[in-house]
Amino acid sequence: MLNIILMGPPGAGKGTQAKKIIDAFAIPHISTGDMFREAIAKGTPLGLQAKAIIESGGLVSDEITVGLVKERLSQPDCASGYLLDGFPRTIPQAEALKKMGPEIGRPVNLVIDISVPDEELVRRISGRRVCPKCGASYHVTDMKPSKEGICDRCGGELIQRKDDNEASLKVRLENYYSSTAPLIDFYKAEGLYHHFEGTIGHVELFRQIEKTLKEAKQ
Ligand code: AP5
Repeated sequence: MLNIILMGPPGAGKGTQAKKIIDAFAIPHISTGDMFREAIAKGTPLGLQAKAIIESGGLVSDEITVGLVKERLSQPDCASGYLLDGFPRTIPQAEALKKMGPEIGRPVNLVIDISVPDEELVRRISGRRVCPKCGASYHVTDMKPSKEGICDRCGGELIQRKDDNEASLKVRLENYYSSTAPLIDFYKAEGLYHHFEGTIGHVELFRQIEKTLKEAKQ
């Protein structure tokens, strides 16, 4: 059983690796960032609450986020594994997950952390373009679509995320170092932590992650 957390700073390549992992291991992808963006696009009460926070690079409250994840992890499709992307992001979220996992019979058994130096994160995020229809991610110089501005996978029109600007990214990085990086020691202490270097190229990175996941599954 693979009940996985995927962590790393903004732009580390979590979304890129998540898509490969869920295809290879047939488990659901639970991205809190995607869930919030979907709620914003639909204009739900959750979306209205989260919009300004996300666009400025801040973190949505632990209470809201934990409730959202608990509901999602309790769905039947998570019974045979899941990939959490972007959750937990704070120690209180990690503690809530440590409690809820066994309660709902779905405890986390592996944490993948991708690290990338700040200068590279800034370069990746400022050049990122995403497809709002299917979630595919591109880069203006490194991962260009075949036709400029158009998604290769679904033909959607590529956009720049509202929080992919210099001011929001500064806040996101500050939040990462103050609130999320402490989870590294938390999961080392739990014996679940696996570190990966995120600058080796997305193909080789996936090869290494896949190897670890296959070993863990045996
Ligand atoms: P979220 O959507 O989780 O954003 P994030 O953590 O900032 O991560 P990103 O999506 O920006 O980056 P990524 O690591 O997925 O990188 P990607 O693969 O696209 O969260 C958004 C917001 O929601 C948060 O700021 C917060 O407000 C809220 N939120 C979410 N979860 C929350 C929680 N738990 N609690 C509270 N609030 C929460 O790659 C980036 C770029 O790099 C791409 O252009 C790609 O082409 C390129 N690239 C990828 N891999 C490689 C590689 N190996 N080599 C070279 N280039 C690469």
